[in-house]
Amino acid sequence: MSNLTSSTSATRRDAIVDARAAEAFVRAYPVQPIPAAGTLDTSPISTSPSVATDLDPIWRAVEPETRARCNDVHLPISLAFAERLCDAHPEADRRTVRVAILLHDTGWARVDESRIISEGFGPDWRRSEIRFEHERQGCLIAAEVLPPLGYDPAFVNAVCAIIEGHDTRMVAYSLEDALVRDADRLWRFNHTGVAISSTWFSLTPAQYTDRLEADVLPELLSSAGVAMARAELERSRALLKTTVLR
Ligand SMILES: [Fe+2]
Ligand SMILES: [Fe+2]
Repeated sequence: MSNLTSSTSATRRDAIVDARAAEAFVRAYPVQPIPAAGTLDTSPISTSPSVATDLDPIWRAVEPETRARCNDVHLPISLAFAERLCDAHPEADRRTVRVAILLHDTGWARVDESRIISEGFGPDWRRSEIRFEHERQGCLIAAEVLPPLGYDPAFVNAVCAIIEGHDTRMVAYSLEDALVRDADRLWRFNHTGVAISSTWFSLTPAQYTDRLEADVLPELLSSAGVAMARAELERSRALLKTTVLR
């Protein structure tokens, strides 16, 4: 793992928001969470893994980056959620959503590992410099791996526009951006996501599921995402006995 950042002191800043893009998205989708016109599936995500093989060349290209920060668990589960969200929103560009979610956190592999937990999951984590750095590195990785696999510059730009700001920017710019954001959050509601993420934030599973309900659920942008999150949360709480183990 390389260290591309030299500073060891935690810095904080706000994301730069393209107000026109954000306002255009709200005008296009005035009702939020965005209603779904397609199929909604709230069954356990393990029942519908991503089985298509068209993205396998990308997976192989970023295999080293999947070994950072549990990306080899987070990214496949989030891709499965992203595909369900695309089923609920057939009007979305499915390929952009799928590729963007696959690559969105690969940049964690190119930042200082010691800072991932100390800064990336501390108080005010969304404004930490390391969060911005993993987004920048993720865009660089997308620009490295996609063109040799035949993806054209416009597509690469569309993917990078989603990766950039996926954690640090609070607003979405497009439906595809919104679905990637929801898929990125949804994996945490699954019991595997609870198990991994709760340790990142030094919380018990019960504390973490409470936080998911209070803080993350309201951030979801699609009604399909909300329904899937509620279903996964209920199953995770029952499975992990969070009413007793508090
Ligand atoms: Fe991220
Ligand atoms: Fe993520």
